[in-house]
Amino acid sequence: MITPRHQLESIPPYIPGLSTQEVMNRFNLSSVIKLASNENPLGCPVPPHIFADAIRSAHQYPHYTTGLIDQLAQHHQVSPHQLILGNGSDEILQLIALSTLNPSDSVLTALQTFSEYRFSAALAGAPCYEIPLRNYQYDVPALLQALNPTTKLMYIANPNNPTGTILNRYDIETLMNRIPPSVLVVFDQAYDAYVTDPHWMPLSDLLAYPNVVVTRTFSKLYGLAACRIGYAISSPSIIQLIQKARSPFNVNSLALIAAQYALTQTQFVQDSLAMNQAGLRYLTSELTQRGMLVIPSQANFVCVKMGPTAKQVTQMLLERGIIIRHLASFGYPDFIRITIGSLPQLQSFVLELDTILSAHPLQG
Ligand SMILES: Cc1ncc(COP(=O)(O)O)c(C=O)c1O
Repeated sequence: MITPRHQLESIPPYIPGLSTQEVMNRFNLSSVIKLASNENPLGCPVPPHIFADAIRSAHQYPHYTTGLIDQLAQHHQVSPHQLILGNGSDEILQLIALSTLNPSDSVLTALQTFSEYRFSAALAGAPCYEIPLRNYQYDVPALLQALNPTTKLMYIANPNNPTGTILNRYDIETLMNRIPPSVLVVFDQAYDAYVTDPHWMPLSDLLAYPNVVVTRTFSKLYGLAACRIGYAISSPSIIQLIQKARSPFNVNSLALIAAQYALTQTQFVQDSLAMNQAGLRYLTSELTQRGMLVIPSQANFVCVKMGPTAKQVTQMLLERGIIIRHLASFGYPDFIRITIGSLPQLQSFVLELDTILSAHPLQG
């Protein structure tokens, strides 16, 4: 019998939620609203003819080193040598682990956070220690306390998925001023664009620390989740080190061209952010009025304490064509996460929720 590497044995395979089409087929529905994967409700900003142009040169390998890298360098006012592209930021998170970790090293992260950190550590064969959140946020003092001579990497989702909370500039200063320079700190900023907190640490300040990598994605604000494109920014020497684990053509031409186009769509970006703010306000207010704890969010989703019926309510919503995320796999069985959709989508969600709650009132 072939067995997996033992570090991978305890890692459950990633099981994505049902797609819109699967839900329609399974429950015989004519329409479905997906509020489960933090995708952009305004859709994809790239018109079909841009993809069609890219398809014409699909017989050639993608041009990794030109185009998008230069455009991102300009966009962020960094050198092209400070950037690496990935097949989604998921891949970048893995490349960081694969290029830095020996089996004798270890990884630190939070317990209730994005599962890719745990998975990346396991892929690299290194143990991962997970520190519980405090007040739904990464616990900086506890993370510092948990550092030990084997710690090589720290993954921080900022904003955090699933809570939508951030470490602000003071938290980050406390962390970075005490952490040894031999520990690489990865700030996963998949949702940075949605942050409105005035104490958010800007990218240039974050990159002033020599042992920091920042990861970003085109999957959320830029509406390109299906293209799979993300990137990391750090010092040229750390980027060179991560490059060691990258396979030659890891990002496809369609993704490169779509990302270049999306990056120029400032109106789309503004509209997306405005829609998110309006939706966040609406949903927070509606759910709070119904007695639920809504964790104040700096992202494009909200994390809501629903109580012991969270799983059941998620299933009943699914059967009515509303897909949300139950958070048991994040260590929060009493919580749900709802992506900020368009206002009509959120209104439908609230309507269906009310129907369910009138028959099955919240407990506890
Ligand atoms: C915190 C966080 N980081 C990274 C990702 C992955 O993004 P990508 O689509 O770029 O792989 C996600 C996706 O949900 C996420 O929530």
